[in-house]
Amino acid sequence: MKPMHVLLDPALKKPIFQQIADHIENQIVSGELAAGSKLPTERFLASSLRVHRTTVTKAYDELRANGFIVSKQGSGNYVRGDLWEMPGSSSWRQYIQSGALRPTLPMMQQLRDFSQDPHYINFADGELAEELLPNTMLSELLRQYPLNRWLGYSNHLGELYLRQTLSKHLQDEYGIKAAPDQILVTSGSQQSLHLITQSLLSYGDCVGIEGPSYFYAQPLFQSAGIRLIRLPSDEEGILPEAVSDLHKRYRLKMLILTPTYHNPTGTVLPLSRRLRLLELSRALNIPIVEDDVYGPIRLDGAPPPPPLNVLSSADNVTLYLGSLSKTAASGIRLGWIVGAVPVIERLADVKQQVDFGASTLLQQIADVFFTSGAWGEHLSRIRSEVTRNRDTMAEALRTYCGDDLEWNLPQGGFHFWCKVKGEVRDSELFEQAIRQQVIYVPGSLYGAEQGHIRLSYSRVNRDEIVEGIRRLGETLRKLAKNS
Ligand SMILES: Cc1ncc(COP(=O)(O)O)c(C=O)c1O
Repeated sequence: MKPMHVLLDPALKKPIFQQIADHIENQIVSGELAAGSKLPTERFLASSLRVHRTTVTKAYDELRANGFIVSKQGSGNYVRGDLWEMPGSSSWRQYIQSGALRPTLPMMQQLRDFSQDPHYINFADGELAEELLPNTMLSELLRQYPLNRWLGYSNHLGELYLRQTLSKHLQDEYGIKAAPDQILVTSGSQQSLHLITQSLLSYGDCVGIEGPSYFYAQPLFQSAGIRLIRLPSDEEGILPEAVSDLHKRYRLKMLILTPTYHNPTGTVLPLSRRLRLLELSRALNIPIVEDDVYGPIRLDGAPPPPPLNVLSSADNVTLYLGSLSKTAASGIRLGWIVGAVPVIERLADVKQQVDFGASTLLQQIADVFFTSGAWGEHLSRIRSEVTRNRDTMAEALRTYCGDDLEWNLPQGGFHFWCKVKGEVRDSELFEQAIRQQVIYVPGSLYGAEQGHIRLSYSRVNRDEIVEGIRRLGETLRKLAKNS
């Protein structure tokens, strides 16, 4: 009988029998355990998981009570044979394995689960810690400003009042000139990227991206049949000259870039490279999507060069993406795309087909947030808190990981991008860190070569930073000794 691997965590509030039952239930639902298949005997499973036999009995009782398994007298426990059968159709498993979007990679799914568990020190998520979210500020604002605007379906571009507010905000904060009809309100930059794949690109198109780059965007493009071509880069970002060579080979349809506080590397593309890139983009007729979600998160140090959008405003070769996720709260799900009117109209038309436009409630909240001046006040607080977190992590890295990791001090954004000095496999380090209850994002998920890790300092408090980096240092040393 094959052993069953169940990751049991005694530190969780959830009892062990329930962890076993949940694991088996997930395997049944995902189809990994086929309908009608035999489960391990209670004795076998108990000994392979090193738990008492009654714990497994209780887990099986739970699964039986919930209708997932049946017992056959004298023969053992089986996954119910009829679980996924629909009258006259085949099993759900077939459906689950089809559909247009690819499933998230298993390591990302694992990270998604661990990041919900408060027992783990979370260096994985690029979002703000609970205490940095603007709950109090928003409740106060909502007392002062009634949400008395239109709550029906939104204008397909987004409500005019918010687009007017965004137009002013983008001009004041970044020098971006965008009339309200050049702005589409979306449910965040992830949706903006999705809309671009669905509205402006076709199956088989080649798109240039930074390598490594933002991981949730990659399956999105691959699912749409778009070939991602990696643009060579150094510690200052991509090398513009490579674009012409790659264009000759692949006929690049678009570039998708994060020139400011790149995720995961934190690089800031210098002004000279931005200007050269724009020259090439015009000459070769390749539009650029500029994903600027981290742009406002400047820590200390010099301001970054202006966005590509500002440097190219006369000819509209860019689509500029922004969002409230990193400056306010990732759960608000509100973003924007700025571009030429016909392109914005096309994207808005597709957005309407997909979800009938952005939430009118959230649009009112976002509007109040910007017009009341709360956004600026909130951003100053975030910048100074996140800078302190970054400095705490830098100090902890020097103390505990100085011999094992290399990194650059990020000038903005939420992450350190580190390289392991010795040889280590990403999956091994990741597993060992999980055992120490520390999670981070392995570089291979961004398409980086083995031995890179992204450590986020925004979601954790400073005590967690010190403790998590200490555990990571210990893990790295242990692995180095064993290699
Ligand atoms: C580079 C980049 N683009 C887009 C997104 C998605 O942002 P949003 O929450 O606005 O959808 C993220 C999220 O981390 C990101 O890092």
